[in-house]
Amino acid sequence: MLSASTSNKGKALVTGATSGIGKAVSLALADKGYSVTALGRNEQALEELGGIKNIRPFALDLSDSSALEAALASEPIDVLVNNAGIMPPNIKFSDMEQADIDCTIEVNLSAALRVTRLVLPGMIERKSGHLFFTGSTAGQAPFPNMAVYGASKAAISSFAAALRCDLSGSNVRVTEIVAGRVETALYRDALDEDDRERMYSTFDAVQPENVAEMLLTVLQMPAHVDVTRFDILPTAQYVGGGGFAGKTG
Ligand SMILES: NC(=O)c1ccc[n+]([C@@H]2O[C@H](COP(=O)([O-])OP(=O)(O)OC[C@H]3O[C@@H](n4cnc5c(N)ncnc54)[C@H](OP(=O)(O)O)[C@@H]3O)[C@@H](O)[C@H]2O)c1
Repeated sequence: MLSASTSNKGKALVTGATSGIGKAVSLALADKGYSVTALGRNEQALEELGGIKNIRPFALDLSDSSALEAALASEPIDVLVNNAGIMPPNIKFSDMEQADIDCTIEVNLSAALRVTRLVLPGMIERKSGHLFFTGSTAGQAPFPNMAVYGASKAAISSFAAALRCDLSGSNVRVTEIVAGRVETALYRDALDEDDRERMYSTFDAVQPENVAEMLLTVLQMPAHVDVTRFDILPTAQYVGGGGFAGKTG
């Protein structure tokens, strides 16, 4: 259990804060004294987050671009964690529904760009800020039955690296989190329960709190130091295989 903290280090916005990595990151930032806006859709999870010191729950569907713009237009943010993401069904691309393809690109890629576009001008003006993007090993190597998810994460990786070039001299830092297998609810719609159980029992998955701990370490580096990317995987996992019928990442 995290202990409470009284100091206020600045404002953080975490997308996908209602579950998994985003929830652990929100709790860790709040514990360190950041004032955290925790964005997600799950009402029960948002209500629980609302009971935690330094966390303000924010109910929003990231695909609602006008609501996002209205909410963030004048909100100064010091730390943005672009984390929300979905895993579409793990099937061949030729069998995918167009709606699943569109939704994956919308949440995993377009929404992250949209939120960043809204928050970044204020960071540039204030000459400080830190942008995190949750990428994936699936964006670094090909996996079967994950073409669209992998494409969304490869695009995030490329975007984060190029954005960092744009921001040279601005004092705004950019970090991509390249996550391997982390035990969360991500595969809830992609795999059935037996397959999920088999996947997580293959090796010791990273826990969301491990990712949050690394994020805090990176954030707490001196302002002139930018950890541009960190890869965090189970010790037993290697990129390109190592585990569950190719369904890794
Ligand atoms: N778990 C892994 O092994 C792994 C590996 C590599 C990368 N990642 C990445 O890590 C990030 C976090 O995923 P996770 O593993 O923590 O999964 P998770 O437990 O399923 O969390 C996903 C979060 O995204 C939010 N979200 C999804 N669609 C949304 C929408 N339309 N609007 C607002 N919020 C939305 C969900 O909130 P609501 O349910 O409230 O909508 C939830 O809080 C994702 O980008 C994922 O691709 C995960």
